[in-house]
Amino acid sequence: MPVELQKARAPEVRVLRTPDEVAEQALAELRRVGERTDRPLVSFATGGTFTAMLRALHAEVVAGRFALDRVQATHLDEYEGYAPQQRGSMVHELGAACPSLLGMLARGAFLPVPHRADEAELRRHELRLQQLGGVDLQFLGIGRNGHLAFHEPMVPWDRGYHIAELSTVTRDDARARFAPDPVPLRAITAGVATILGGRRLVLCAFGRGKAPAVRAMLDGEVGPACPASALRTHGNALVLLDREAASLWTPRAASSDRSG
Ligand code: PGA
Repeated sequence: MPVELQKARAPEVRVLRTPDEVAEQALAELRRVGERTDRPLVSFATGGTFTAMLRALHAEVVAGRFALDRVQATHLDEYEGYAPQQRGSMVHELGAACPSLLGMLARGAFLPVPHRADEAELRRHELRLQQLGGVDLQFLGIGRNGHLAFHEPMVPWDRGYHIAELSTVTRDDARARFAPDPVPLRAITAGVATILGGRRLVLCAFGRGKAPAVRAMLDGEVGPACPASALRTHGNALVLLDREAASLWTPRAASSDRSG
């Protein structure tokens, strides 16, 4: 077993009854980091998995129960050529679910991932995140193929932000988002190296369609075939699943909780 794996604390896994309960616990993580850290840097994830959480966050902000001016924010990935305001872009998606994030964007407190495949711009983005103190809380989804952000299977794990060639599964899953236009071939994404630099990782997954990827992440081999298995080398990761997403996983670690 690799040394890093022996040393790392296994991800805590919580299996909950409904996606809403998952969203609630993900939001609790956001509250916690806001209380513990001065102007924490939160990196949001997109995808259907996070819509409920982002809507709930917006409701909290509007009700005055959460102050977004206490946090700095960024996100994981962007389709090549899709500027923040453009429909189809990840920033547009984040803003549609949580309009308060657009307020942060307007005042420079939300750093969008570059949408141009320009290496120098990617390195500047990475540097800027480091200058802000690095990511305190990283939200993550998981692809059906086990990808994290758009870090696709078999791409080496030493990659930070990079230009990703999207896999067929990833493009198939994004088809409805762009129809009738074709799905972009490439995206700009955080890499496993970037993601593992986050102080706290919170991965959420719902539904039967994610069950094989969840099993590969938690029970399969740790390696590039399943980028999400990198969470097992981190030491401060939380995995929030509904029962369907957890249905093929065999809990072993003492920290795992199937009671939900
Ligand atoms: P989803 O995407 O939330 O839309 O399922 C997650 C991902 O592909 O990482």
